[in-house]
Amino acid sequence: MSRGLFITLEGIEGAGKSSGLAYVKEVLVQAGREVVLTREPGGTPLGERLRELLLHGGDVDISADTETLLIFAARADHLRKVIEPALAAGKAVVCDRFTDATYAYQGGGRGVSRERITALERWVQGGLRPDLTLLLDVDPSTGLARAGNRSHPDRFEREDGKFFARVRQAYLDVAAREPERLRVIDAAATPQEVKHRVQQAVREFLHVAA
Ligand code: TMP
Repeated sequence: MSRGLFITLEGIEGAGKSSGLAYVKEVLVQAGREVVLTREPGGTPLGERLRELLLHGGDVDISADTETLLIFAARADHLRKVIEPALAAGKAVVCDRFTDATYAYQGGGRGVSRERITALERWVQGGLRPDLTLLLDVDPSTGLARAGNRSHPDRFEREDGKFFARVRQAYLDVAAREPERLRVIDAAATPQEVKHRVQQAVREFLHVAA
């Protein structure tokens, strides 16, 4: 049995993660892998309820620390019930956001210290990290313009351009720290070009991992 693979997609609002997930899945299926598509926060009944609170609990005041803890609570549930069993069964798990998003949004965006996030990461994940992360990088003004016509913006989509500039920078900082795991893809390119680069990155990775 092939060993499990853990691939995550990251990027700010409007970077094109949904299309990116489909591109990744296509390559994995072509390579004969069984794929589990999932997302964070979410992916389990409890995780989806926490997601609802985090994204749409508009009238509930949630501090930056509490937000971080809720996200890791959802993550712990998701790991134990979905991600770890799928990896143990040799499947390819493709997750729409993971802990890099916590460094970006709660760290860069909200100002929670890296030390606190790292401590929770170690507690909840032990040594588990994604094998490959694709960061769809786009300027916030482009991303927000693409995402901007959503009629009911969630708690994050209501933040301003400065917030998303910090989020983007925090993502790029992670990419600079871990260039082997994180591949930065220019998401402002044409859809065909983005598709090509995403699929190329996954193919290259599969060769390395084979
Ligand atoms: P999305 O999956 O539709 O992009 O929405 C999820 C939102 O949750 C997005 O605005 C980013 C936010 N989020 C965090 O703030 N921290 C996290 O760790 C994760 C996984 C998501």
